[in-house]
Amino acid sequence: MAKRPTSPPGDQAKGLATRLTHAGRDRELTGGAVNPQVQRASTVLVESADQLYAPGVWTYGRHGTATHKALAQAFCEIEDAAHCALVPSGLLACTVPIFTFAEAGGHVLVTDNCYGPTRRFCDRSLKRWGVEVEYFDPAIGAGITSLLRPNTKLVFMESPGSLTFEVCDAPAISSAARKVGAVSIMDNTWSAGVYHRPLDLGVDISVQAATKYVSGAADVLNGGILTRSEALIRRIEASVDDLGLNVSPDDAYLVLRGLRTLATRMSQHQASGLDIATWLQSRSEVRRVLHPALPNDPGHALWKRDFSGSTGLFGVVLEPASRSAVNAFLDALELFGLGFSWGGFESLAIHCDPQIRRTATQPAFEGPLLRLSIGLESPDDLKADLERGFDALRAAR
Ligand SMILES: Cc1ncc(COP(=O)(O)O)c(C=O)c1O
Repeated sequence: MAKRPTSPPGDQAKGLATRLTHAGRDRELTGGAVNPQVQRASTVLVESADQLYAPGVWTYGRHGTATHKALAQAFCEIEDAAHCALVPSGLLACTVPIFTFAEAGGHVLVTDNCYGPTRRFCDRSLKRWGVEVEYFDPAIGAGITSLLRPNTKLVFMESPGSLTFEVCDAPAISSAARKVGAVSIMDNTWSAGVYHRPLDLGVDISVQAATKYVSGAADVLNGGILTRSEALIRRIEASVDDLGLNVSPDDAYLVLRGLRTLATRMSQHQASGLDIATWLQSRSEVRRVLHPALPNDPGHALWKRDFSGSTGLFGVVLEPASRSAVNAFLDALELFGLGFSWGGFESLAIHCDPQIRRTATQPAFEGPLLRLSIGLESPDDLKADLERGFDALRAAR
């Protein structure tokens, strides 16, 4: 489903929070209501027979409704993109561009720390279609040049990785990719585009799981594919059409509703996340915290150069402990829910080790790896909850 904005991008002199509050609110789309209606459509009636096959005439719901157009416009505002294709999940936001630019007999480079199902798509589907998939060290930087080949079609990054939190050198990697004609793609879900703008850094396509921070309420799945290139969006739109991907207008409405408050929520996720990460660093049960905004994090220098803020998702390496002690920690938590996904208003915790799949590099963690998604609860209450977890961890050792 391709939903190109019908109005020009917003006034960049205004702050992001202002732009997100007002984006996608053309009278034409909303009829004066603050938000667009949930417009459902399969059949769209045309005025006369000569319009049935006329170019540019809206004839079918799969090509989007006013609700989708409003969301696509607002999504573009987050990263100053010119074009946004909406897809029904964050995973599709990753896989559709890969599907679009990979070619049989071609080679693709994918960061070793990418989201597991993105990797599974590459290993299961791309390989079946005769595409050679090679994983690279997220810390490779300009060294990516040695892996690029004349038949490299795309380079896929995720920064920071959503389990292991390495930051990649997006400007170096995207500029090297461009030299061989490969498309660069960034999974930018961690920053929600609020604190990291890959399109400004030379990346061709930025993708996001709007399921996380953009919608913010843990009740909808959605993805956005953002670019400033007309040529690239045309190819992505062709894939979306070929695959028949369609976002439910109800979901588009929910995502847009969440997006209105994105900038404000992110400030709180950032503040609470840093507060709790810093506190965790002082705990004897914790070996180290994986959070690029902490000065001792290996990704800190790149984060400082390329990001304007941090979010509520980070990793915690515990001192060595048995699986049952880690489970006791998690089971003792009352405010942190145990569940996958992240970026909602509620805090979540998981242990990550079973999910980590690497081939280019093996991250060495001294103990079990946990991931916390810090929600919008009071940080002191969350610390008290973690304290409960540590009591249970020590008792189970
Ligand atoms: C970094 C990252 N990208 C993409 C996705 C996929 O999003 P969705 O669950 O909407 O398919 C996730 C989901 O956890 C993720 O963490």
